[in-house]
Amino acid sequence: MFGSLLFVAGALAPTVWAQANTTYANYSSQSQPDLTPQTVDTIRLAIPDCESGPLSTNIVCDASADYRARAAGLISALTLEELINITGNTQYGVPRLGLPAYQVWNEALHGLDRADFADSGDFEWATSFPMPILSMASLNRSMINTIGSLISTQARAFNNDGRYGLDAYAPNINGFRSPIWGRGQETPGEDAFFLTSVYAYEYITGMQGGVNPSELKIAATPKHFAGYDLENWHNISRLGNDLYISQQDLAGYYTPQFLAAVAYAKAQSLMCSYNAVNGVPSCANSFFLQTLLRDSWGFDEISGYVSTDCDAAYNVFNPHMYASNVSSAAADSLRAGADIDCGTSYQYYLNESIIEGLVSRDDIELAVTRLYSQLVRLGNFNGNNSAYRQLSWDDVVKTDALNISYEAAVEGIVLLKNDGTLPLPSSVKSVALIGPWANATTQLQGNYYGTAPYLISPLAAAQASNLTVNYAIGTEISTNSTANFSAALSAAKNSDAIVFAGGIDNTIEAEGQDRFNVSWPGNQLDLISQLSQLGKPLVVLQMGGGQVDSSSLKSNPNVNSLVWGGYPGQSGGQAILDILTGKRAPAGRLVTTQYPADYPFSFPQNDLGLRPNTSTGNPGQTYIWYTGKPVYAFGDGLFYTNFSTTAAPSGYGASNGSSADIATVVSQPHPDYEFLEQQPIVNFTVQVSNTGKVASDYSAMLFLSTSNAGPAPYPNKWLVGFDRLSSISPGQSSTLTISVPIGAMARADENGNSVLYPGTYKLALNNDESVVQQVTLTGNAAVLTKWPVATQEILPAVQAM
Ligand SMILES: *[C@@H]1O[C@H](CO)[C@@H](O)[C@H](O)[C@H]1NC(C)=O
Ligand SMILES: *[C@@H]1O[C@H](CO)[C@@H](O)[C@H](O)[C@H]1NC(C)=O
Ligand SMILES: *[C@@H]1O[C@H](CO)[C@@H](O)[C@H](O)[C@H]1NC(C)=O
Ligand SMILES: *[C@@H]1O[C@H](CO)[C@@H](O)[C@H](O)[C@H]1NC(C)=O
Ligand SMILES: *[C@@H]1O[C@H](CO)[C@@H](O)[C@H](O)[C@H]1NC(C)=O
Ligand SMILES: *[C@@H]1O[C@H](CO)[C@@H](O)[C@H](O)[C@H]1NC(C)=O
Ligand SMILES: *[C@@H]1O[C@H](CO)[C@@H](O)[C@H](O)[C@H]1NC(C)=O
Ligand SMILES: *[C@@H]1O[C@H](CO)[C@@H](O)[C@H](O)[C@H]1NC(C)=O
Ligand SMILES: *[C@@H]1O[C@H](CO)[C@@H](O)[C@H](O)[C@H]1NC(C)=O
Ligand SMILES: *[C@@H]1O[C@H](CO)[C@@H](O)[C@H](O)[C@H]1NC(C)=O
Ligand SMILES: *[C@@H]1O[C@H](CO)[C@@H](O)[C@H](O)[C@H]1NC(C)=O
Ligand SMILES: *[C@@H]1O[C@H](CO)[C@@H](O)[C@H](O)[C@H]1NC(C)=O
Repeated sequence: MFGSLLFVAGALAPTVWAQANTTYANYSSQSQPDLTPQTVDTIRLAIPDCESGPLSTNIVCDASADYRARAAGLISALTLEELINITGNTQYGVPRLGLPAYQVWNEALHGLDRADFADSGDFEWATSFPMPILSMASLNRSMINTIGSLISTQARAFNNDGRYGLDAYAPNINGFRSPIWGRGQETPGEDAFFLTSVYAYEYITGMQGGVNPSELKIAATPKHFAGYDLENWHNISRLGNDLYISQQDLAGYYTPQFLAAVAYAKAQSLMCSYNAVNGVPSCANSFFLQTLLRDSWGFDEISGYVSTDCDAAYNVFNPHMYASNVSSAAADSLRAGADIDCGTSYQYYLNESIIEGLVSRDDIELAVTRLYSQLVRLGNFNGNNSAYRQLSWDDVVKTDALNISYEAAVEGIVLLKNDGTLPLPSSVKSVALIGPWANATTQLQGNYYGTAPYLISPLAAAQASNLTVNYAIGTEISTNSTANFSAALSAAKNSDAIVFAGGIDNTIEAEGQDRFNVSWPGNQLDLISQLSQLGKPLVVLQMGGGQVDSSSLKSNPNVNSLVWGGYPGQSGGQAILDILTGKRAPAGRLVTTQYPADYPFSFPQNDLGLRPNTSTGNPGQTYIWYTGKPVYAFGDGLFYTNFSTTAAPSGYGASNGSSADIATVVSQPHPDYEFLEQQPIVNFTVQVSNTGKVASDYSAMLFLSTSNAGPAPYPNKWLVGFDRLSSISPGQSSTLTISVPIGAMARADENGNSVLYPGTYKLALNNDESVVQQVTLTGNAAVLTKWPVATQEILPAVQAM
């Protein structure tokens, strides 16, 4: 069934891993790279001495000069060996010139990681926010911006103490397409076209200090470009998998969030991914790194640099065999546009590449100058005059005290099912807290975490409340042992209400490790089933980043409430408790589909085609195309109160039945937006009234659909806007206006062009479509963004010979 697909890949791929060479790790199946000690080293950093050292006479220290000239001046002063020494992520510097060591590889997924934390005292910790999958479920875009901004403040404070670089390998903006993906937890969910683009924009501008600020705060590195969303499904390693993606899906799903990151948010850096797409490893892919990124999205104009994923340049050789040895793989990657190697292939082999005539000193200078231009723009060569040089440990303490980690967790938590049991009434004096997440501490942080100031488990939060808590672990995440069942059942019998906290964690979904299925692991459902027979109120907390099939809990009337809590960060237990007791009201919405258990077995997960395909069994991927029935849908989320929504009276913006001429739309000025695609085309305005008894935030998603605009097949619907309103009291109303950008109404055609099609469109509020408006576009279809032809400058070894 994959004949044609394999044929395409096979025609481009040079050769499979032909000879067994046991001196190499087999990265076709091994999903974790064996990185060299230099790559993984964390080093103390020093501020370049621009006052009295040898650098002080180099133009790089002249704050009045152009940043590119400053970087070029530094780079041209280097010997070839010194130059090659600073092409990797761990750079031991250039002693002759007084250029200090620098570390490109810093992490900032949801807090500082790979920072040089102190053992005690100042700089011992940094704030640990919830994982992005949960923060995004808040549908609060300013929250995402705030988190990015706080993390960068803490990063700069650490940098000033030599404990963190000025670049961060974040955010992770691949779409969470396959529900078994081990790293979907790191992303803002499955809607790569709109939601992830907004996330990227907010997080990156938060981290960098705005859109193209005069002095950069932290350089954000969105990753992994492109098509990366599997770790080791069927033991096919991410380091070597080759995925077929049509130009239509590349343009419509796998890259629009990178366009938003680069063109709109001006990300200063970008990471190419391990995998190959259509036969070409991403880090040797000139179509990705030159044609799209630089020629189409303007990355070069802001002097951005590309970093490889860690060891991805080496992987161009083993296992991709796109190059026949490491020096050639390094040369291919560099020439394709991967400027900095997270790894040591460049540092150890570019000398050979030069001798072999595969690259020139100019090629290397261009790449390294791009990185050092960034470091100049980051103020690294401005001594104490850098805008952020005064930030200190006090600022870390102050920003942590804002408690935004707690707030993000509270706002992200999603109520999936509730028969009125939640919030727990004051008559509940005792709770049984059961399950492998009940006393979660490190689990709260997911992955890519640093040292947190504290980790509040659900148990600790409950014990600090006025509730009597009867704790029993009951079972582990993934065991069939029933040894602890009876203790859990008796704890439950002794309590007024039962809270089961379980699901999955990083023992099940992780980097390098996809899940086998989307079922609840081990015997957790057995225990929940037994607990549900006790005749007590039962609340289930489903934790973890990926969804598990909770259909048996949904249909069991004795499971009174179901809550998804993601990975809620350092204050996660407190956030959960405050939701359960009603101190705070939930208003998050799922940013992924909860698929039934048979879904990942119904077609190969490395089929990246989004549209349903009867010949392969692919039922359509993401809520946009899925033809089956989800257990819980993308966008689902309940409240403790009732809201009624009505279309706002006219005068508030575009009203039902409005129509626009495409030629007029695409030729209009857009003074407030750099790109026409960003300009609102329609305002969707509703009155939201709290008709229930509990004060609550309100969150909403706005979906678009059509059955006649452009060619079939038509998506089920797609997200074009979302927002969150803060606390609306019972009996009160509030106005919600969602502006739909022009670009969000367009679809990618088969060539990858983004096209605005004439026809009738339906705008519907949330999955229940509580307010619907019709909008018509007239005239001829117009191409908003032309997708370039996918040519490849870097040829595979076999063809190059
Ligand atoms: C590497 O692993 C792949 C996938 O498991 C296997 O097909 C191949 O034979 C292995 N190669 C070597 C050289 O062992
Ligand atoms: C196997 O790998 C070693 C390097 O580790 C290399 O020297 C040798 O040439 C390789 N053999 C083959 C057959 O590729
Ligand atoms: C290059 O880096 C290596 C490893 O740190 C070091 O031993 C060597 O002296 C450096 N070379 C120069 C010219 O700085
Ligand atoms: C993956 O490899 C492991 C270890 O070799 C093996 O136990 C497992 O069955 C393999 N899984 C698949 C889906 O092939
Ligand atoms: C590496 O491959 C390139 C391109 O095929 C070739 O020119 C070069 O001689 C090879 N180097 C080594 C050390 O085998
Ligand atoms: C290239 O540099 C590495 C050290 O980084 C050294 O081991 C190797 O011998 C050099 N190769 C050549 C051809 O000079
Ligand atoms: C920069 O500020 C630090 C801390 O205030 C001080 O120790 C250092 O001497 C200053 N450096 C210069 C070059 O002024
Ligand atoms: C809860 O977890 C903490 C931290 O791991 C541990 O110290 C404590 O003993 C646990 N409490 C119980 C009741 O198991
Ligand atoms: C516990 O109850 C007392 C008395 O009602 C109240 O003052 C106190 O704030 C409560 N503590 C917590 C942690 O809820
Ligand atoms: C639990 O039991 C199931 C079904 O009997 C089995 O497939 C699974 O491997 C077992 N899991 C563990 C962790 O023992
Ligand atoms: C949407 O509302 C904003 C703010 O009121 C207004 O400036 C804009 O013109 C409106 N846009 C459309 C397309 O109605
Ligand atoms: C969104 O998050 C920001 C930053 O934390 C917060 O100030 C604001 O109140 C939140 N908005 C809503 C509607 O909850």
